[in-house]
Amino acid sequence: NWTPARFIDETVESIRKQVGDGHVICGLSGGVDSSVAATLVHRAIGKQLTCIFVNNGVLRMNEFESVQTNLRDKLGLNIVGVDATDRFLGKLAGVTEPEKKRKIIGNEFIAVFEEEAHRIEQESGKVDWLVQGTLYPDVIESQSVRGPSQVIKSHHNVGGLPEKMKLKLIEPLRDLFKDEVRRIGRDLGMPEDVLNRQPFPGPGLAVRILGEVTADRVALLQKADHIVVSEIKRAGLYNKIWQSFAVLLPVMSVGVMGDQRTYAYTCAIRSVHSEDGMTADWVPLPYDVLKAMSNRIVNEVKGINRVVYDITSKPPGTIEWE
Ligand code: XMP
Repeated sequence: NWTPARFIDETVESIRKQVGDGHVICGLSGGVDSSVAATLVHRAIGKQLTCIFVNNGVLRMNEFESVQTNLRDKLGLNIVGVDATDRFLGKLAGVTEPEKKRKIIGNEFIAVFEEEAHRIEQESGKVDWLVQGTLYPDVIESQSVRGPSQVIKSHHNVGGLPEKMKLKLIEPLRDLFKDEVRRIGRDLGMPEDVLNRQPFPGPGLAVRILGEVTADRVALLQKADHIVVSEIKRAGLYNKIWQSFAVLLPVMSVGVMGDQRTYAYTCAIRSVHSEDGMTADWVPLPYDVLKAMSNRIVNEVKGINRVVYDITSKPPGTIEWE
């Protein structure tokens, strides 16, 4: 019978055999899957694994630092943090079309990752393997035949990278479901806040900033989003909800603050229940939670003076706004 401990033992053993004294890299996203995959491979081969975590400029508040703290300081993984904020925001300047934003971020990610991988090769010798946190549902999804008309949004991952760099894949989680991955992470001693993280899209806050992505707008949304998530956690709802986040709308409206007229952005709050992201229901958040979010956002985030709540389910809405 399946237990996390047995799975870990067997996988560690087989990774050691597979890899020998080869060098392995892994792209971290901050999410559960890549973090557990990396930690498992680290358990097997230690310093032969180098993880790369790219700051694409559209991460959440403190995320670039906290992911590194969790995995490097607490678990001992070897992580190269690459702050490519300026590069990504430079490419995104002036771009408003959602699919274009996604493509830019996906392509830029591959470019940055590849450069880092080559740099690692120069320092520590040939890289042979790439770890990916592919789960069983991802395997099924990529096998199902889908016409182009069914691609509603292009999803961002490191596709194309293994072939280009001639890397062989290690996918230690490809027979597992999410709940099994969490159990393995727990057994590996990973922090709960890593294991219970709500999903976050690859293109990050860029698909939650409607219109052009600028450094100022990212900063505004990071603050608003941080308030939404903290209030959800304070209400004890974080682990009961699939996703909760803020969206920055390029809509300016008039408000009043003290005796001053304001003219500032609108922020939407989105909170949904879902099993797998394919369908979703909006969550009837308690009014006092919504009230706390709204009060805090308009008071603490200079630049946002209006908060609205998204009551659209999927379908017909999607979870993300872009
Ligand atoms: P949508 O907006 O399509 O989102 O209803 C469904 C789920 O997928 C997440 N999502 C992404 N995840 N890369 C990802 O890794 C992406 O490009 C991406 N786009 C959406 C979204 O957060 C939701 O959980």
